Parts: sequence; C-alpha cells; structure tokens
Amino acid sequence: MATAVFTPTHPFSLAGRAAFVTGAARGLGLAIAQGLAEAGARVALCDVSEDVDAAIKSLRHAGHDVLACRADVRDEAALAAAFRLAVDRFGAVDVMVNNAARTPSASIWDVDGAEWDDVLAVNLRGTFFGCRIAALHMRGRGRGRIVNLASIAGQLASAAAAPHYAASKAGIVALTRAFATELAPHGVTVNAVAPSAVESPLLDQLPAERRASIAAATPLGRFGRPDEVAAAVLYLASDAAAYTTGATLDVNGGRLMR
Ligand SMILES: NC(=O)c1ccc[n+]([C@@H]2O[C@H](COP(=O)([O-])OP(=O)(O)OC[C@H]3O[C@@H](n4cnc5c(N)ncnc54)[C@H](O)[C@@H]3O)[C@@H](O)[C@H]2O)c1
Repeated sequence: MATAVFTPTHPFSLAGRAAFVTGAARGLGLAIAQGLAEAGARVALCDVSEDVDAAIKSLRHAGHDVLACRADVRDEAALAAAFRLAVDRFGAVDVMVNNAARTPSASIWDVDGAEWDDVLAVNLRGTFFGCRIAALHMRGRGRGRIVNLASIAGQLASAAAAPHYAASKAGIVALTRAFATELAPHGVTVNAVAPSAVESPLLDQLPAERRASIAAATPLGRFGRPDEVAAAVLYLASDAAAYTTGATLDVNGGRLMR
C-alpha cells in the first residue's frame, strides 16, 4: 500500500482554524467566507454594511460557526477592535483575508482628489491596516496566513478599470511583498489573489456586448465564478501553501499569462 502523501491531516483542511474576512457582506468576500467555513474554519465576517447580518444568518443556518463584525477598513482603530472581537471569540485568528474594496468606474478625467483619496483609503490603506493588525497577532503566535485581494486591473491596462482602482490594486501587490518579506521569519505567509472579471451583480449590469468582448478576450472563454476565487484563497490559507509567500496567484481564465 502506498504511504500517504498528506499526514496526519489533509493540508487543505481548515478544521480548528479561525479566519477574518473584510468586505464579507456580499460578493467575493461572502463566497470566500463561506468557502473557508466549508473547509472547517470558524469565520468572522467584517463589513461596513449592515448587510453582514443577513450574510451571517444564512451561514449560521447552514451550520457554520461565524461572527459578524461591523467596521470600516479605513479606520485602523475600528478594524483592530473588530479583529480583537474575533480573537476573543475564537481564541486566535489564523487567516486574515483583506477583501473589502470600492470598485468605481471612471475615466482619468472623472476622478477628483476626494474620490482618489477615498478609493485608495478603502482599497490600499484598508489592506495595509488589515495586514498590520493581523501581522501583530500572528507574529506573536509564530504562524499565520494573510491573503489580499488584488485584481488583473492592477496588472493589465484596461479602459474598463478606473485609474485609482487600478493603482490601488497594483499597490496591493507591492504591499503583499513588503509584508511577506517582513513576516517570513515569523512563520506568517502573505500572498495575493488577482481575479479578472468574476460573475457578480456589478458585472451583470454590463451591456451584453461588453460582457461578450471580455469573454472573447479570455482564453477560457468566460467570466470567473466566486467559488473559483474562493478556492484560490483557501489554498493560500491552508497548510498546503506553506512554502508560498509574496506571490500573486492569477485567477483570470488565462487573460494574463506570466
Ligand atoms: N468582482 C470582480 O470581478 C473582481 C475582479 C477582480 C478583483 N476583485 C476584487 O475582489 C474583492 C471583492 O470584490 P466584489 O466584486 O465582491 O466587491 P463588492 O463591491 O461586491 O463587495 C465589496 C464589499 O466590501 C465592503 N466595503 C466597501 N467599503 C468598505 C469599507 N470601507 N470597510 C469595510 N467594508 C467595505 C462592501 O460593503 C461590500 O460588502 C475586491 O477587493 C475587488 O477589488 C473583484
């Protein structure tokens, strides 16, 4: 009989782990939170929106151990307080997913200073705060996983991506490497996932022509699904990814190959 490759527990299992996901009230954040819970983790869903309560209800109904935290990721103290709530409830947080973002559509001519600052504050500064809050906790424990949501918009020029959104997402790739470097000696890995267009209420609103042209430019010929992004996050959150840090995992149907 062959010796088991994975012992003693399956490396993709998150049983006994706890996770904290920002922007988890809907969309990819909710799919990621659900995926982590289905892999066995207890999950804190953090969002600025009160919709997080409905998300919690449906996950509890499915039998998952989840916690709702309301916080605005632009506010470091509020995010730290929400994170502490999760630590108090779960005993520790093993996995931090920085997913909250604003995804505006605008041309370079439409973005004024306030709008630039706000998108950068949510997407990039919020991710910085999330990484740092998790890093403080995980560094002390000598282990942890941080996963940041980047985007193909930060890697590839596109008229559809607003300039401040694209800049924030490119910044997340650099931030991921900076935290990965700093935290590697402490047993904490930091990686990013960069999706391209994923099926979502936001993209449902695109004109059929535009949707068709995005699909046509994608070698796999379609949009991604939220569960396919969640799967990439799950991998990076698991023991299976122990030797991966500072990486950006593309989940883009082959739209950008590198
Ligand atoms: N959907 C896509 O096609 C796609 C593609 C590439 C990258 N992404 C990235 O994936 C992530 C999720 O995207 P989505 O489409 O699910 O977005 P979404 O707009 O559907 O959801 C974002 C969530 O973040 C929350 N949020 C916004 N501002 C916040 C704040 N200041 N504090 C706390 N929470 C806040 C919102 O309330 C919402 O629940 C984002 O980081 C996005 O950039 C998405």
